[in-house]
Amino acid sequence: MKTQNAEAEKAKIRPLKREDSGVVSALNRLLGPGSVASPAFIAAHCLGPKALAKGWVAEVSGKIVGFGMAHDFVSFGAGGKIRQIDLLFVAEKFRMQGIGSALIEKISTDAQKSKCIRIDIEVEEKNKTARNLYESLDYKPDDAKKLRYKKYLK
Ligand SMILES: CC(C)(COP(=O)(O)OP(=O)(O)OC[C@H]1O[C@@H](n2cnc3c(N)ncnc32)[C@H](O)[C@@H]1OP(=O)(O)O)[C@@H](O)C(=O)NCCC(=O)NCCS
Repeated sequence: MKTQNAEAEKAKIRPLKREDSGVVSALNRLLGPGSVASPAFIAAHCLGPKALAKGWVAEVSGKIVGFGMAHDFVSFGAGGKIRQIDLLFVAEKFRMQGIGSALIEKISTDAQKSKCIRIDIEVEEKNKTARNLYESLDYKPDDAKKLRYKKYLK
């Protein structure tokens, strides 16, 4: 299992605050079309007592350079609560310094405190960088070979 390197210690990982929503929304847009979560959307869904998701940011010298978003759900099949990491992003200039790993570690420690039994991360097959990162942190590809069906509600 990979350990956090010295570079990563320069980044501070902390829970998302309301005032971070604008910067996180701007970083999220860098992920491309479809990544349009507005500051209001982020604040509404990741902050406050009724939030369905949780967020963390990575700060270097007081500047937000990355973030991770996750939510928990109950799996009857797995017999417990699962944490799903929905988004993980590190600004290009700050990649390869262990910040992505540090965000995952923080989300994972918090998941253990919340009594989750597993962490899931979805990744596009072609995203080799992210897949390497997850595998280096001991995440295993799901061999269930299930198809995901979806229908948007009107
Ligand atoms: C995926 C992503 C979050 C990784 O962030 P990161 O901060 O670069 O991640 P890390 O630095 O922790 O690890 C990345 C790689 O750098 C390596 N690394 C870490 N510190 C290093 C160092 N000091 N020197 C050299 N390599 C280092 C890690 O071992 C890892 O290599 P690996 O791919 O062989 O395992 C980032 O590339 C990203 O934002 N990509 C775009 C969005 C995305 O694809 N998100 C994931 C799917 S939602």
